[in-house]
Amino acid sequence: MTGPTLEIHLSDDDLTSALRADARLGLTTDPKWLPPKWFYDARGSELFEQITELPEYYPTRTERALLQRVVGEIARTAQAEVLVELGAGSAAKTRLLLSALTSEGPLKTYVPQDVSSSALRAAADEIAAEFPGLAVHGVVSDFTDTLHNLPGGGRRMIAFLGGTIGNLVPAERAEFLASIHDVLEPGEQLLLGAGLVIDPAVLVPAYDDAAGVTAEFNRNVLHVLNNRLDADFEPDKFEHIARWDAENEWIEMRLAAGEDMTVRIRDLDLTVEFTRGEQLRTEISAKFRVSGLEAELAAAGFRTEHVWTDQQNRFALVLAART
Ligand code: SAH
Ligand code: AVI
Repeated sequence: MTGPTLEIHLSDDDLTSALRADARLGLTTDPKWLPPKWFYDARGSELFEQITELPEYYPTRTERALLQRVVGEIARTAQAEVLVELGAGSAAKTRLLLSALTSEGPLKTYVPQDVSSSALRAAADEIAAEFPGLAVHGVVSDFTDTLHNLPGGGRRMIAFLGGTIGNLVPAERAEFLASIHDVLEPGEQLLLGAGLVIDPAVLVPAYDDAAGVTAEFNRNVLHVLNNRLDADFEPDKFEHIARWDAENEWIEMRLAAGEDMTVRIRDLDLTVEFTRGEQLRTEISAKFRVSGLEAELAAAGFRTEHVWTDQQNRFALVLAART
């Protein structure tokens, strides 16, 4: 068995520079905000894995069951030789796809990509051990930067699962889908997993669980700022907020300051004031309608070939071909 390879296009220093820029911009504007990719250091990736097991967090288990049902069909039509997975994380559900694409198709190479090197390394090691015939090339990079450095080597399918597409705002989504279009050849496919608009009574608890794991995941961005930029946030003094924005059809996560605070970010030589109750925006998680997904894909140059949804219409898997 050959071990997996790991390409680092985002070093620790690159990450620190990028966080410096995002923190300086996001913490000096009103309202304050930070991009959600900063949740995912090693601890944040572990907390996300815990979220996927929570009784309230339906997306992961819904998408897994859906994949289980349709991977055979996907593998037979796709005939992919290379599977690239963006934001792969632990790649737990991807095993279903890899099994089908290797047993029912010509898959030779798996390229998991993620900003979190710890999650990626663990996933690449485990998958290489489980699928000895498969070449595994991990890539540490930011999927909102260039996708041109992802290895090829045959007919490609790009998978973007978990509903992570919803963590991008509409303009970022358009740019991201266009950049996927740019790196694929005509006829190659994108497999997209997306959460659908459902009853807020089910949605909101998925982002505000009784055990408080999502709250800790949300506060992790403050730990990341403390560790990487030598800041002195007191994360426990921030309250986790998850609210459904009916107009934009997204969940918005925020952190509300429990009291007036002065935070020092030594690495930036920056002092940031929070008034009691002030909210820092940390993530949106957009939910979609199938027609909207198809329209966004069409605008980026993709033809929707198949849409599968679960029986409760909570989650969709879309297979789309680059035109
Ligand atoms: N695909 C997995 C993991 C989803 S969690 C699943 O379906 O369960 C979202 C993943 O995307 C995390 O592993 C996180 O590290 C990664 N991620 C978030 N923003 C990213 C970015 N800008 N570039 C690359 N990876 C990113
Ligand atoms: C990774 N992403 C799809 C998750 C979501 O549901 O938006 C991140 C998450 N945020 C809170 N809980 C989970």
